[in-house]
Amino acid sequence: MILPSETASSSTKPAEVRMEVRRLRKVFADDPRPALALLDSGASKAEVLRRLNVNVGVVDASFDIRAGEIFVIMGLSGSGKSTMVRLLNRLIEPSGGDIRLDGRNLTRLPKRDLVEVLRRDMSMVFQSFALLPNRSALENAAFGLEVAGVDKATRRDAALRALEQVGLGAYAARYPRELSGGMQQRVGLARALAKNPTIMLMDEAFSALDPLIRTEMQNELLRLQREQARTIVFISHDAEEAMRIADRIAVMEDGRIVQIGTPAEILREPADDYVRAFFRGVDSSRVLRARDLARCDGTTVLLEDSDDRRPALRRLSELGAGYGYVRDPSGRFRGILSRDGADLLAVEPAAGDAPVHALLRRVATSPCPLPVVDGEGLFLGVVSRAALLETLDRGGLGDG
Ligand SMILES: Nc1ncnc2c1ncn2[C@@H]1O[C@H](COP(=O)(O)OP(=O)(O)OP(=O)(O)O)[C@@H](O)[C@H]1O
Ligand SMILES: [Mg+2]
Repeated sequence: MILPSETASSSTKPAEVRMEVRRLRKVFADDPRPALALLDSGASKAEVLRRLNVNVGVVDASFDIRAGEIFVIMGLSGSGKSTMVRLLNRLIEPSGGDIRLDGRNLTRLPKRDLVEVLRRDMSMVFQSFALLPNRSALENAAFGLEVAGVDKATRRDAALRALEQVGLGAYAARYPRELSGGMQQRVGLARALAKNPTIMLMDEAFSALDPLIRTEMQNELLRLQREQARTIVFISHDAEEAMRIADRIAVMEDGRIVQIGTPAEILREPADDYVRAFFRGVDSSRVLRARDLARCDGTTVLLEDSDDRRPALRRLSELGAGYGYVRDPSGRFRGILSRDGADLLAVEPAAGDAPVHALLRRVATSPCPLPVVDGEGLFLGVVSRAALLETLDRGGLGDG
């Protein structure tokens, strides 16, 4: 059986939406109407500034943020990232549009109810650590709870737990000046975690850190995320960082979202030159996984497993194919059947989650495209040398 060209994708369960953002807009003007009207007529941010002297923050943004994902917002300086994230918790009032959290429209909520929602569900981490110099790490970590009016014993417990989560349990009594930059940022993170929020908004939270500590903090975040999946909106202007931590990335340009997708989707199909330029130089072999490249195309022969090999061999010969990929009735990969042998070749398939760079050698030396399976052993497709070269070429080794 030859399948038409298709992408073999794993079964993805539909993710629950936590935040729905619809037609969100922000212009910085006392009366937003003229600027919004101009934007609606298709004017750019630069035109609005020139004609009305109004600064545009966000233009008509619609997207969903899913429960448990790390949603990264990227874009050049001034593209509207901070404005966007501050709109999400109404630190900045929108000029138009809706933001729903778990179905509740935050934009319509009276201030008092909003404060309650924010206190319960959201924390924000800023780029500057914003620690109070004359308070200990513990007191700093407890600060958000203190502002929220939580009693002393409860907030000390929560703050200590948060400090322990970020590996600073032993430093609770230390003052910020006694801590390194990375440790101070951890205290900032602990302050956000102490509230045990279900949503964390992080605005360039790691940008001030040097590269090694930054990687360490990214790992820390990913580790925490594995333990207790929160919904995280993370702003970054660093392509490597975004690719590393994001479940999905939104790319902003001049107040607009120009593309939303998984790191693999964005690397493989950047929406335009702006997006392409952003991710140029990112080593796609470290971002893409075997499952991202796994395909069945016109040359991939799929065979059914059976004790009697003759029908399958006959099929190979009819098709003039040298080999085929054998699956059992539930779709599990069993091996490769070659036309000149009656036994299955026991080829070790690649795991769908394996990064592409770990496959280079096997794909290069394998006599046939490498089969890829998911965690249950289900056949996802094959990675051919051509597919691999094309991917590497697009990922910055070529001129992109
Ligand atoms: N309070 C404000 N008043 C007027 N204009 C503002 C205000 N805050 C932001 N802006 C404008 O909104 C636009 C987006 O700014 P924003 O801070 O959201 O960008 P950013 O993507 O976070 O940039 P950076 O990477 O430098 O932090 C800019 O043109 C900025 O000048
Ligand atoms: Mg910013």
